Amino acid sequence: MDICIIICMNTSYITMEKNGLQVPPNPTIPFIEGDGIGAEVTQAALRVIDSAVRQAYGGERRISWVEIYAGGKAVSKFGDGVWLPTESVDAIQKSLVAIKGPLMTPVGEGVRSINVQLRQLLDLYVCLRPVRYFSGVPSPVKRPDLVDMVVFRENTEDIYAGIEWDSGTKEVQQVIHFLQQEMGVGSIRFPESSSIGVKPVSEEGSKRLIRSAIEYAIREKRRSVTLVHKGNIMKFTEGGFRRWGYDLAVEEFGGKRESNGTVTIPAPHGDIVMQDVIADAFLQNILIKPEAYDVVATLNLNGDYISDALAAMVGGIGISPGANINYISGAAIFEATHGTAPDIAGTGKANPGSIILSGEMLLRYIGWEEAADAIVRAVSFCYNNGYMTCDLAAISGGESLSCEAFAERLIEQL
Ligand code: NAI
Repeated sequence: MDICIIICMNTSYITMEKNGLQVPPNPTIPFIEGDGIGAEVTQAALRVIDSAVRQAYGGERRISWVEIYAGGKAVSKFGDGVWLPTESVDAIQKSLVAIKGPLMTPVGEGVRSINVQLRQLLDLYVCLRPVRYFSGVPSPVKRPDLVDMVVFRENTEDIYAGIEWDSGTKEVQQVIHFLQQEMGVGSIRFPESSSIGVKPVSEEGSKRLIRSAIEYAIREKRRSVTLVHKGNIMKFTEGGFRRWGYDLAVEEFGGKRESNGTVTIPAPHGDIVMQDVIADAFLQNILIKPEAYDVVATLNLNGDYISDALAAMVGGIGISPGANINYISGAAIFEATHGTAPDIAGTGKANPGSIILSGEMLLRYIGWEEAADAIVRAVSFCYNNGYMTCDLAAISGGESLSCEAFAERLIEQL
């Protein structure tokens, strides 16, 4: 009797255990294609990631992609108003790690940003934005090669918590009355026509963000962690963030307070300096002396501005990757940082660099370093040799490739 043995690699799920993330050789990872250029860039990225994994591990490891829905595609599949189906959130919760293309937020239709909803539902408290320069990419600054920073932006608090009341409503009048009568606030300049927003910043929220930044700096052998804030004006919220950051470095990481106000954190690869800088000075300094900064920890709104300003210095949001992570539960969504670019959707002009490099972050996050390194090498090769999508080629004079052709060129290089 012939015996036929079928060897199959069962799909399984990434889990978070006491000793960290456990990754099977064939993990199920959901993807959200996204709206506008999302379909093009996401499909290009999945092909590049698969190719890098195949190249690095032969057939021993493979990602089982599963499509989940959000944004316009969810509405067409599940009906009006269903922008973020519960099944999609459940799937990410079960798989822990996901990747997504850009999603549109309809303006003025009362639809809350799906990106913000996902961050809040999964408590993804870190928005991680590594910013580095690839040689050959056109840049508006003279020395983009000096930019090598990793931004940890707090993702769940600050003015983004969504606590606001519109001018002229009964609610805002109640809030203003309370502030004036009960809290002795006399500085609301135009109380009759003011809207009011509240900015919660907590010790727990700040410390878990800054803890992740310090742990990252130790793990990745970085030399400094800079707290960026506006504590000179907002003493208790932004000033609290700064104070809690320094306290944490001393209390949890054995840091030593120096006479110049910094804290020196001991690490196996050498001391890490924790310093702080006011946000407006930081935005000047990144143009004048970007080499002064390495890992950056900051609040939500500052982080929003800072991430895009830094991205512009190294080639723009078209190639800047990002992720939203909860390092405690392990949940993480890797994403394109640009929008849906409706003006070029369907033309083949989209640059898939942002989501491809987010895929590289995903691979590194799950410990598949060899595949991540392969993507970095292929991207470096392409940019260095002038292979680019038309957004960059138009500035640099390099060869202009379509989204698909650029992905194909990367795969060849892999
Ligand atoms: P956008 O980023 O979509 O476009 C701004 C400009 O950059 C456009 O000229 C566009 O053609 C270009 N661009 C963006 N990504 C590109 C890429 N990968 N390759 C080549 N060119 C690229 O920003 P916009 O127009 O403000 O927003 C459009 C929609 O995207 C809105 O509905 C907005 O809510 C949404 N959005 C979603 C984000 C996300 O899901 N993370 C982030 C930002 C915006």
